[in-house]
Amino acid sequence: MKILGILGSPDPRGGSAQLLLTALKAAEKEGLSTEVVRVYEREIKPCMGCIRNEEPKCKFPCIFEDYGKELLVKIYNSDGLILSTPIYWFGPSGPLKLLVDRMTCLENMISFGEPSYMEGKVVGVIAVGADAGAIFTGAYLITTLNSMGAIVPPWALAYSYKSKKAIFDKKAVMDALNIGILTAKTIKLLKGEKQELRYIQDEELYQKIKEEVIKTLELYPEEIYHEKRPFRRSSI
Ligand SMILES: Cc1cc2nc3c(=O)[nH]c(=O)nc-3n(C[C@H](O)[C@H](O)[C@H](O)COP(=O)(O)O)c2cc1C
Repeated sequence: MKILGILGSPDPRGGSAQLLLTALKAAEKEGLSTEVVRVYEREIKPCMGCIRNEEPKCKFPCIFEDYGKELLVKIYNSDGLILSTPIYWFGPSGPLKLLVDRMTCLENMISFGEPSYMEGKVVGVIAVGADAGAIFTGAYLITTLNSMGAIVPPWALAYSYKSKKAIFDKKAVMDALNIGILTAKTIKLLKGEKQELRYIQDEELYQKIKEEVIKTLELYPEEIYHEKRPFRRSSI
């Protein structure tokens, strides 16, 4: 049983990487295997919309031979996905949106008499910004993936406005940790194991995973990070 973590940030040590790793470490404690992929690693070509052609071409694993295709195959082979993105103007980062569009080929298998290949995959979403837009971003991703057939467990959205210091945002870390646990438990439930799907407030696990993430990503102590930008907007 495997969860694929999809990092939507160009920064491998930034806030969305910190909360993604938190979620994946929690999922591993539930016994699942995990892998992280980064959408900025290489080029993901934009979807060409061949779904609308008379001769249906939009079929998994897509017409392009690129990094996007490699990611689509990894998504296909995973039981769950946790997407973690920076908030870029109230939405996900550009390359992550490109990947979501390319995932149409998984969903469009319904045009070939098969179920959507996203059906039954369990998804969680994390959004990290500096001031506003987490709900737009999270709601967009959750709604879209669910519309492709994915299953959304309870407590499947975590967000922080602490930007590069997200790991020091206790509520966000606790939420991210719960995304990992609940994504893992939902996958096990779907495989026939008895599971309780509840938010857990585990201080010991929180401390342990937070320290592991700080160590793995070689993060600085909290006071080193500055708030460089002036306050502009209220949080949405
Ligand atoms: C192009 C761009 C657009 C941004 N738009 C928003 C925004 O709408 N809302 C917000 O809260 N932060 C916004 N930010 C700030 C980033 O979300 C923030 O720096 C975040 O920490 C980036 O995530 P990362 O640390 O994982 O890279 C924006 C940053 C950039 C570069």
